[in-house]
Formats: sequence, structure tokens, C-alpha cells
Amino acid sequence: MCGIVGVVGNSNATDILLQGLEKLEYRGYDSAGIFVTAGDKTALIKSVGRIADLRDKVGNQELGDRGIGHTRWATHGKPLEENAHPHQSETGRLTLVHNGVIENYAELKEDYLAGHHFNGQTDTEVAVHLIGKFVEEDGLDTLSAFRQALQLIKGSYAFALIDKEDADTIYVAKNKSPLLIGVGQGYNMVCSDAMAMIRETNQYMEIHDQELVVLTKDSVSVQDYSGNSLEREAYTAELDLSDIGKGTYPHYMLKEIDEQPSVMRKLISTYADANGNMAVDPAIVKAVQEADRLYIIAAGTSYHAGFASKQFLEELTDTPVELGIASEWGYGMPLLSQKPLFIFLTQSGETADSRQVLVKVNELGLPSLTITNVPGSTLSREASHTMLLHAGPEISVASTKAYTAQIATMAFLAKAVGQANNNTKAAAFDVVHELSLVAQSIEASLSDKEMIANKVEELLSTARNAFYIGRGNDYYVAMEAALKLKEISYIQCEGFAAGELKHGTISLIEDGTPVIALMSNNSILAPHVRGNVAEVAARGAHVLTIVEEGINKEDDDIVVSSVHPYLSSIAMVIPTQLVAYYASLQRGLDVDKPRNLAKSVTVE
Ligand code: AGP
Ligand code: GLU
Repeated sequence: MCGIVGVVGNSNATDILLQGLEKLEYRGYDSAGIFVTAGDKTALIKSVGRIADLRDKVGNQELGDRGIGHTRWATHGKPLEENAHPHQSETGRLTLVHNGVIENYAELKEDYLAGHHFNGQTDTEVAVHLIGKFVEEDGLDTLSAFRQALQLIKGSYAFALIDKEDADTIYVAKNKSPLLIGVGQGYNMVCSDAMAMIRETNQYMEIHDQELVVLTKDSVSVQDYSGNSLEREAYTAELDLSDIGKGTYPHYMLKEIDEQPSVMRKLISTYADANGNMAVDPAIVKAVQEADRLYIIAAGTSYHAGFASKQFLEELTDTPVELGIASEWGYGMPLLSQKPLFIFLTQSGETADSRQVLVKVNELGLPSLTITNVPGSTLSREASHTMLLHAGPEISVASTKAYTAQIATMAFLAKAVGQANNNTKAAAFDVVHELSLVAQSIEASLSDKEMIANKVEELLSTARNAFYIGRGNDYYVAMEAALKLKEISYIQCEGFAAGELKHGTISLIEDGTPVIALMSNNSILAPHVRGNVAEVAARGAHVLTIVEEGINKEDDDIVVSSVHPYLSSIAMVIPTQLVAYYASLQRGLDVDKPRNLAKSVTVE
């Protein structure tokens, strides 16, 4: 959540900060600000709303050669200008940007900062006042003051700090929140995300939790909180600038929905060789083989992708699978099996709730696998093994291609393990062929965009609430479809097990209530869903059916071309992604940046 960018030693500082913030905006976007210095001159500019508003406010100000910028996702205090970062110390000498949550900010304020005046309500302002107190009142140098404050501050943070009397340094520290150094030619940078620095450099340096970095234009000094210096090598990141553009698309979400067939093909070429043999890391296969239970830990869409993978994982690996909501498991695990393997499903690899569980898993000395889209992300670094999703950067807050890539990646894992175990179902499941059919099915659904847009207009134009229903794997797709619709159209929507409606929820159905029924090609379940559709229709529901070829009837609304039952969730989710997209678009909402949300949820 939120984005931080900083640069020292580059005469284009203002521009670099604004461009960096534009790239980071998907991480948080309720307000933003920059602080730039050029010799003795400083400028602090903040604005509520989007980076475009900040850019307007900055206008043609001088460029500066050192600065820090921030795009906020409010945790403490409303999204007002006074709460926007950067924040300053009591005398204004120190300026700080922060991502995360300082848990003991109230105590710090009370114990150390009596008499200080605060402009807003953020936890961040307390932190900069605390560092400032040690400099301005106690006479410490900035580095010692920063270190002293870091020893007192509890919680999650990525900090970038500037002392205006110290002409060419940025001080940086991190704990639990993502932060990365970018090494330039004659200048250096700090940022929450490599993508926001790729225009300037592809040389990066990791920072680990509880490390402090002193950054000047030509030096990067990494140290622990006691001041011991630490060795850190730079690495080259293979990111393609063109991946992070929107191209000719009006929204990232539509581009990312359209990319799904090529993501499926990319996964085929990554996880299978030309002869169709599995190319999954043997150490990962072994880790799954050795486990007596797989615990999939995830949040939001990734959690739903875990459910969508459960059946084939169990059948092909002969191992029970249990799902855990990361934010619940972080503070209470159930009784674990003898030989658990934890699988962290996370597009960003930075989700604080998931990481909280991984930290516990590591403390217990248990094995783990992170399945993520972002190489080098925190959860990837800290787990025993990593499998990549190869979906390319996902910028739209609403996750689409990461969900389908997660299921497909899991399918390769399940097949590879099943094959190694001589599982007969695995032998019969030609994952390469089946996923290429999935890619074709997605393409067919994508060619129906206009029809789907029209159906959405008919069904949802005035809706305040809606239901998705399904059974079996379609129930899990219904959960994901409902999340997507809520997230970007603000229509309240529930994903329901179709047979469960009559146990209470059906009382909500009235004349015109939109109900979208999902029926994949399962001859046992589909007739029962048809029965449930009849029940809601009899009570006035406005029903739309999304049905897989093979069991479709003449008056079904959207027909999805047929795929292997293990992979039906991928095919079935595509029309629901388009339903959410068009519902949001038709309401004139910001599809890619829905209110109150952020892409990478780095606070608990
Ligand atoms: C879904 O559209 C959301 N972006 C959200 O539910 C997301 O899947 C969740 O926050 C988990 O993120 P992760 O996959 O990066 O861990
Ligand atoms: N807790 C800080 C605030 O509310 C930082 C939030 C963020 O990470 O954007 O301002």
C-alpha cells in the first residue's frame, strides 16, 4: 500500500519523483506529495487526489537534485492535505515519507513529544517529530537520531528521510514494508517497487527488515540498527518498460483480461518442455511429495484461486489441501498435520497478511512455497521455494490475469507431482494440451465483449445488489466473480453456493434482483443449479446464465467453450471479469483504481 520514491544526485529530481509516483499510483491513491531540494532551496508540495492533481500543483517549479515523494493509502487520519506525506519535524528541518503503520505512535507521542504541534492525525508525523526531537532538542546527528527512533518505533515501515541541512543524503529504513534501492550512474534512488525506477536504472539492491541505508549520489551504505555495515550486491532486474504501459487500451484491466490467452501459453512454454515433459523445479515436487497436507494461505482473489485449485491438487497429488485466509491465520493457526507444506499464493508477493503467516511458518521451521508474480518479492525471498506466475505486471487493482495464472501454475505443480507419484489421473491429464484449449476458450469469450456489455447494461444498470451462484468449482468462481463486481462497480454482491440460498439468503430475492448463475460442464451439478435458478426466478429474480458448452440450453445467456473440468474455473471466470469491467465502466467509475483500495496490501 502506498508508494515511496526518492532520488539523490539527479538534476531532474522533481520529474523523476512525479513519474515514479505515477507508476506507483496503483498502490495507493488518496493523496500524494513531494519534497525537493536544490542547494538551500526546498519545496514541499502536497495534494489530495491523484498524481495528476499533484502534477498540476507542482507546475513549472524548479527541478531540484534530491527529493522524496509519496502516494498515500490512508491508515491513520482522513485523506486530507494535512495528512498527505511528506511530513516534517517540529522545526521543519527533517522531512519523512512512510509506508506502513506505526503501532506505538500514541505511546511515542505521549512519552517523548509533549508540547509538540501536529498538523494532522497520521502515525507518520509522530515518527518524524520523534527523529526531529533527537536532532533538534537533544543535539544528535541525523543518523544517530534516526537509529535511536528506529529502536523505539514498533510496526511496519518503509521510511525515506531528508535532513535539509545535510545537502546530499537520503536516509532509508524498512521493516515489513517493501523498499528497494535503485543504483544509477552518478545518482541513487529508493522506491517501493522496481517498476517505478526502471526508466532510470535496472540495477537494484535489496533492503532487508530492520536495516538502515545511507544513500548519497555515489554511495549506498547498508547497515543494521547498531551501525554495523552490511555487504550488499546490486542485481540486474529484467523488467520491460513496455509491460507497464497501457498501450492503446482505455484501462489496464481490459488489457490484462485480454492478455490471459498469452499468459496461458507463456506458462506452457515455461513449465513444460517441447516434448510436453514437466519443467517444474524437482525440489518443489519433492517438497509436495513429502507433505502430508498442503496449506494454501492467501487473501482476496488469490484465496479464491486457491479454492479453484483444491480439487485437482488433491486428486493429482493424493494430498489433502486446506485453505487459510491469511489475515486469520496470522494470529491463530489450526492444529497442523505432521508434515505440512505451506503454499503462499500471492500475486504481489508483498501482502502483509500472508507474510505474517510466513514469518510464523519460518519460526516453526516448516517448509513453504510462494507462488507469485513478482520475482524477488518479500514472500518469494523468505519462503523455502518459489514458483513464478509469469503473468507480466498486473497494474489494475482488480486482479484478473494473476487469478487465472495462479490456477494454471497450480495445475503444472499438481501434474508434476502426480506424475512423480505415478498417479493414474495425473497420467491421463495432459496439462499442456488442456491449457492450450483453455487459451482458445478464453479467446472465444473475449470475442463476445460487446454482447456481454449489452447483457450487463440490461441486468445491472440500476442494481444496488446482486448474486452469483454456482456449485462445486463454480461456487468458488462465484466468490471471485462477486468480489470483482463489488470491488470495481460498488454493487453489493455475494457469491453463493447455489444450494445454500434456500437456507436463508433467498429471502433477499425480490422483483428484479440480479442473479448470475454459473454452470460448468458437470452433468451431476448442473441440473441442481438449474433447479436453484428456477427457485430464484419464481421469486422475481432477473437471471443471467453463464454456461459451459455441452450442457447449454437455447435460452442461456453466455456460453463458454468447453475445457477440462480441472480447469473450468479459468474458462468460467472470464465472462465474469468482463461483467465487472462493463458494470464499472457503465457507471462511469474509475475501473483501474476503485475507491478505498490499493493494489499491494502491505499493511495488516
Ligand atoms: C482482487 O482483485 C484484489 N486485488 C485483492 O483481493 C488481492 O487479490 C489480494 O489483496 C491479495 O493480493 P496478492 O495476491 O498480491 O497477495
Ligand atoms: N500510516 C501512514 C498514513 O496513514 C502511511 C500510510 C501508507 O502506507 O500510505 O499516512
